[in-house]
Amino acid sequence: MKISAMAAAQRGAALQPCEYDAGNLGPHDCLIEVAACGLCHSDIHMIDDDWRISSYPLVPGHEIIGRVEETGSSVKHVKRGERIGIGWQRSSCLQCDDCLRGDENLCDGNQGVISHGHGGFAERLVMDSRFLFPIPEGITTDVAGPLLCGGITVFAALRTAGMTSGQRVGVIGVGGLGHLAVQFAAKLGNWVTVFTTSDDKAEFAARLGAHEAVVVAGDEPPRSSRRLDILLNTAPANLDWAAYLKLLDSDGTLTFVALPSTAMQLPVELLLFKRRRVMASPIGGRALMRDMLRTADTFGVVPLIEKFPLGEINTAIRKVRENTVRYRAVLMP
Ligand SMILES: NC(=O)c1ccc[n+]([C@@H]2O[C@H](COP(=O)([O-])OP(=O)(O)OC[C@H]3O[C@@H](n4cnc5c(N)ncnc54)[C@H](OP(=O)(O)O)[C@@H]3O)[C@@H](O)[C@H]2O)c1
Ligand SMILES: [Zn+2]
Ligand SMILES: [Zn+2]
Repeated sequence: MKISAMAAAQRGAALQPCEYDAGNLGPHDCLIEVAACGLCHSDIHMIDDDWRISSYPLVPGHEIIGRVEETGSSVKHVKRGERIGIGWQRSSCLQCDDCLRGDENLCDGNQGVISHGHGGFAERLVMDSRFLFPIPEGITTDVAGPLLCGGITVFAALRTAGMTSGQRVGVIGVGGLGHLAVQFAAKLGNWVTVFTTSDDKAEFAARLGAHEAVVVAGDEPPRSSRRLDILLNTAPANLDWAAYLKLLDSDGTLTFVALPSTAMQLPVELLLFKRRRVMASPIGGRALMRDMLRTADTFGVVPLIEKFPLGEINTAIRKVRENTVRYRAVLMP
């Protein structure tokens, strides 16, 4: 089966049209026709091989909304024509302790859509049906994609850091992930501070639900009018983590979804005397994905997007690199 897609031929290359052979459908597989696909910063880390796991030609795209076109012989729970979403994860072993707990994202055998196959900047792709997620009717196709990676990642990170409601939550970086974190935290009843390097985003943060916006400039230490219970970092940057830790209240948690490029050095006393924690969180398991989609639908967490035709993918990539997308680029084939 031949599939048309947009691929990077080598590290850092612009995407070019390509065609690849997807083979035959396995018993658990589905053929998906792509309707929209968000551009996550992880696609760019993969194009640039920042994590040393990329192989080329690389077809990025892992915030996919599409329709099931064909189903393998064992597929029962999704039907032809059904609208589904796909995030970062392609598959997992489904048998280890992590998988059986519903933490498929922590499975040693977990595979990524674009690290172990070809992604969604394409007309179609073949996917394991067990990692397809029906999209609630209230969420429209053009905006739904960014929930499947950006949305689940921040929802899972906030949940595993202990977010319920009535807490004070800080979000560092108001990009694709950050603008969804602000919405989830605020709409679930928390007091939210954003830390941004962009003046226009500070002005806009209140419309996302933030109660306070701090523009962090140069070497100035970040400040916040309230001590925070949870601080979520979505900026792939090397920041003054000790200064951010000082903003946390006792028992507060600093959690990472973005990876700084250098190792972190912290004076342990900043943790010890206030019993603070540092953690990090990768995407989210299947059960949490369903909770996240239901929560987004119920509480009106809506990705704010800029649409591009798939043929203009390189313009969208340039804009993400320049940090000028507000707040997620979505490619429409
Ligand atoms: N843990 C996971 O499972 C997971 C899942 C998805 C993505 N990620 C990672 O999360 C990070 C954010 O992804 P995203 O799609 O939200 O990216 P994005 O849309 O580019 O947003 C990142 C934001 O971080 C802020 N920032 C500050 N300093 C920066 C710097 N030096 N370089 C880049 N951004 C900087 C900017 O916000 P301001 O303008 O507000 O300062 C920027 O908009 C990426 O590293 C991505 O790989 C992790
Ligand atoms: Zn992603
Ligand atoms: Zn497993």
